[in-house]
Formats: sequence, structure tokens, C-alpha cells
Amino acid sequence: MTRRQFAGVLGLAGLGGAGLVAGGIPGTAGRARTGALLRSGARLPTPYTLPFAVPPVARPDAPDGSGDRYTLVQRVTEHEILPGTTTRLHTYGGTFPGPTIVARRDRPVTVVHRNLLDRATVTHLHGGHTPPDSDGFPTDLVSPGADRVHTYPMRQRAATLWYHDHTMARTARNVWHGLAGFHLVHDDEEDLLDLPAGERDIPVMLTDRAFDADGSLRYPPVTEHDGMAMPSDAYRNGVLGDVLLVNGVPWPVLEAPAVRHRFRLLNASNARTYRLALDPPPPGGHGFAQVGSDGGLLDRPVGLDTIELAPAERFDVVVNLGRYRPGTVVDVVNEFGDGSMREVMRIRVGGRAADPARVPSRLGMVRRLDRAAARVTRDFAVRRSSASAMWTINDRLFDPDRTDAGPALGATELWRFTSDLAHPVHLHLDPFQVLSRGRPGALADTDGGWKDTVRLLPTQTVELLVRFTDYTGRYVFHCHNLEHEDMGMMATFRTG
Ligand code: C2O
Ligand code: CU
Ligand code: CU
Repeated sequence: MTRRQFAGVLGLAGLGGAGLVAGGIPGTAGRARTGALLRSGARLPTPYTLPFAVPPVARPDAPDGSGDRYTLVQRVTEHEILPGTTTRLHTYGGTFPGPTIVARRDRPVTVVHRNLLDRATVTHLHGGHTPPDSDGFPTDLVSPGADRVHTYPMRQRAATLWYHDHTMARTARNVWHGLAGFHLVHDDEEDLLDLPAGERDIPVMLTDRAFDADGSLRYPPVTEHDGMAMPSDAYRNGVLGDVLLVNGVPWPVLEAPAVRHRFRLLNASNARTYRLALDPPPPGGHGFAQVGSDGGLLDRPVGLDTIELAPAERFDVVVNLGRYRPGTVVDVVNEFGDGSMREVMRIRVGGRAADPARVPSRLGMVRRLDRAAARVTRDFAVRRSSASAMWTINDRLFDPDRTDAGPALGATELWRFTSDLAHPVHLHLDPFQVLSRGRPGALADTDGGWKDTVRLLPTQTVELLVRFTDYTGRYVFHCHNLEHEDMGMMATFRTG
């Protein structure tokens, strides 16, 4: 396929990568593909026929004055995802997505992860500011039949976090098979804002999957060697499915009153990047008011027509359905998708109702990290090794026993990543601020606030400022294209 045909398939011919779309990262057009499509053999449901579902909220084991304790049992369960068929999933607590843990800043959460699967797993709280022994290092395996207690102090801002599998060389397959859930943190700063709450505060997990005719999940064959996983040839850039699941439901319909809603968008897909838009857009445009990103509230809302989400990124947005006439049908579409993957979900706008929510012009307090405070600069090349065809960081494959960076606790550092193709880069332990993208000082309009995952476009350099705080020990950073991660695109840092 030539470049032009490729752009045509994406429906982007003529856009030319000039960054003409608000909410897009300049240069993005035609370069959204980060994997190969795995097609379903199953008969797929007609989009917008199944009801939208919100994942259940986890219930603590027992009330406790100083914190909340949960037990999440990992087990195989059966689900009717495609009507009339049965899909076996690996789940946390029997649901996909797993139960949502609702936490409060400074109130510790303990999660006992009990593994009743037939293989060892590791669980990580993505975006969690977590001591090392609870962070889910890829070799901290929990054997079948065993428990592991994870302690989360929750000394962090209100934000949309998520938990997912992080087993060395198996993360892509384990997450694909269902091991992912939300973990929300609230705080007083957020409560003061009157953002949409309760039923109008909706977590939205996007995943793409492929199914066999009998309803079972499809995934390409994988070979493992030296702790790395190699999917079969065609899928080494990543695995893309042809069924879009929103909170585990294919292309659902949400019935919602004509008022403001907060959507906590999470891309939990292995490799797919989305560009979401509202069709039709509300009169006057800027249908999404972005209020938060990976690390919680922005300082001010950002009005966007489209949102680009790479794997693991979160966008916290308010959509005012009151800008539509009651009865309007609004589709959330994926402008980076073609065919079935252009559809995401549908919103049927209901009647008008009282709406106490608002989007204030000042949101959270975001203290800028100061470039001058960074005395250490580290460079990381994230690229495919020409020798091994594996994905590497500074030409090395992941080695859990090697320390690749050793920041001092309390230090601010400048980390500079340079890519070959598109890679969403994620750091554990502390959130960061994007300092520049491509050229000095250049940023996309969605680079603001605190991030923990940053989307690198092909052949791009992105600079981050990060301050390492509170916990000493060993952590990882990696590409969140899960096939890349399992093929070696991960490294360690040790705070001390
Ligand atoms: Cu969401 Cu190290 O991962
Ligand atoms: Cu993480
Ligand atoms: Cu990658």
C-alpha cells in the first residue's frame, strides 16, 4: 500500500498531516495505525443495539476506620458479549471491566489480589503513586492459588486510574482476555467544582477485540523466548480488533438526559489509537470540555472537537447534552477507524432536566515543574532493533535485573524520548508534565496538566519533566502498546 492509499483507507486523504483538527496532535494524520487488524469470524451485532453498561462498583470487605480493604479474585468467567454466544474471559471479580474501586485521596486502599487462574499473574495500578512492593513489578508473580496484598496509600490528586495485568511477556494476552478495571480517586478540590456527579459521572473503557464464530476471543499465536513474547509475524506492531467494546459491550447505546455528563475516557486497548468526535457536533462546536487528564484535573478546561487517545491515556471530559435538542441521536465516532471501527457508541439525548453541574473556568491547581530544576537529563530511544526486530529502549530489551536509570528521590529530571514509530510511553510512580513535543516549546493542546502516558508520533522527540517522590525502589517505564511492551520495550528505574 502506498502512503496515499493508506491515508485513503483511513479517510484522511487531503488532510496532509497539517494538524488542522483541534484536539489533534500536529502531524498525526495517516499515521494512526500501530498494529495489524485481526478479523473476527463471528457474526457481529449491529452497532447501537445493545444498552450501555457501567462497570459495578467494588464493595469493601469490611468497613475500617482508616482505609478500605477489597478482595479481587482473578478467575475465568463466561460472558455473553456477542448476543447468543459465550466468551470465556479472565476477570477480576467476575466482570469485565473489573469492579470499579472508588477511593478518596489520603485514605489508604488495600487490595488483596487472589489468583484463581491457571497461571501466575501480576497486577499494577496504573497512575497509582504506589510503594514498589505493591506496584506490580512484572516479575512479582502471584502463583495460581496464591494471594498478594497491594497497599495503595492514595497520597495523590483525584484522578481516573485503572488497574490491569502486568505479567512479564504476558501482559498483552492477559489484558486482552479481560484483566482490566477502573480505580477512581476523589478529593476535596474536585468536590468543590460541581462537575457532573453520581449517574452523570461515567467511566468509559474502550477496548477492541476479535472473536471466533463460537464467541471465544481471538488472539494471534505467540512464541516466547528469554522472557519476551513474539506474536506471529503480521502482529508485531500490535494487535487490533474489529469489535469495539465500550465497558465490555459492543457499540452500545446510552440513553441520557439533556444535561451535562462527565465521561472518564480510558483507552484500555492493546495497540489501537482512537480519534473521537461527536456526530453531529453540538451547535458552535467544542463538544468536549476536557477537565482532566491522566493525573487529574487540568487548571482550566480545554474545548475540543476531537480527542486522540493512545493506549492507557485518560481524558476526563464534560459533554453538555443540553446543547442538543431532546431526541437528538449523537454518535461518538472514531475518525481513525474504518469500517466497523469507525463506530464507537451512540447517545440518545432524552428530555431536559435540572442540571446543577457546571464547568468552572478554573479547575484544579497544577503547579508547573520548572525546567531549571532538572539537573539530570536522560535520553531514551524507543525503537525497533534492526538486529532483532524486537522493540527496544536504547537498543536494549527489558531486563528486570538491570537498572536503566537511578533518579534521586526528590529530584526533578528531564526525560527525552525519541521514537521511530508511534509509541505511547508510560512511567510508573510519578506523573510528569510534557515540556515539548517535536520542537522546543511546541505542545499539543492536549499535552497540558499531569500525564503518566504520552503519545509519541513517528520520529518525534518528546521532553518530559518528572519529579520522583516518596518511595524508593524499583519501578518500570515502558511503551503501553502492550505487544511492544511484551516484546521488550520496557526498562527499569530505581529511585534512591
Ligand atoms: Cu498501565 Cu506499566 O502500565
Ligand atoms: Cu502504570
Ligand atoms: Cu511501542
